[in-house]
Amino acid sequence: MASAIKISPSILSANFSKLGEEIVALEKAGADYIHIDVMDGHFVPNITIGPEVIKRLRPVTKLTFDVHLMISPVDNFIKTFADAGADIITFHPEATENVSETINLIKKLGKKVGISLKPKSQINLVEDHLNEIDLILIMSVEPGFGGQKFMPEVLDKMKKLRNTIDEKKLNIDIEIDGGINFNNCKEAKKFGANILVSGSTVFKEHDGNLEKNIQLLRSN
Ligand code: DX5
Ligand code: ZN
Repeated sequence: MASAIKISPSILSANFSKLGEEIVALEKAGADYIHIDVMDGHFVPNITIGPEVIKRLRPVTKLTFDVHLMISPVDNFIKTFADAGADIITFHPEATENVSETINLIKKLGKKVGISLKPKSQINLVEDHLNEIDLILIMSVEPGFGGQKFMPEVLDKMKKLRNTIDEKKLNIDIEIDGGINFNNCKEAKKFGANILVSGSTVFKEHDGNLEKNIQLLRSN
């Protein structure tokens, strides 16, 4: 059974010269999580922020840090991100030699575990681990950049996963990430997402009215 819809704004679209203030503003505007996109220029063709920045941002808010690691190899950095203040650590199965080992690394540190599927990554990469994880992140854009166009072809994959999770009565959140806007958020929920990530829609629509944009994504 899907739980209440949560909004996890991606700070990739925030003003990087004042990330602390932007996170405070997101909290005031009603964000449930803060989605932090970590990119290493190796797993994806872009570089963003690392654990030191997350450590500095941690005291700014009590909100859940929903950390999306687009880095490989990922195992060497799990503890660093956990110590920096990540609450949910989501990794890509293609970034590790052994998915179960990476899951256990994260759980041993008391953090929630997410697995992220790129648009072309198939369900078989996650279906053997459903009893071990807390969240599945369905990417609806190729990882690496904000502001890309939503890829509706991932919806069927998401629906299949939602059906399996519900059949097995597992308590796993499905988070959709990439190109989410006011026109496709309803469909994303219908196809099984209960957490919506959004960067450009939250920060850019309605002259950057964060509260209005978060509310519209939640209620549409
Ligand atoms: C892309 C990131 C996404 C992205 C979402 O690699 O994982 O979280 O920042 O940004 P929008 O909502 O602008 O597509
Ligand atoms: Zn992301």
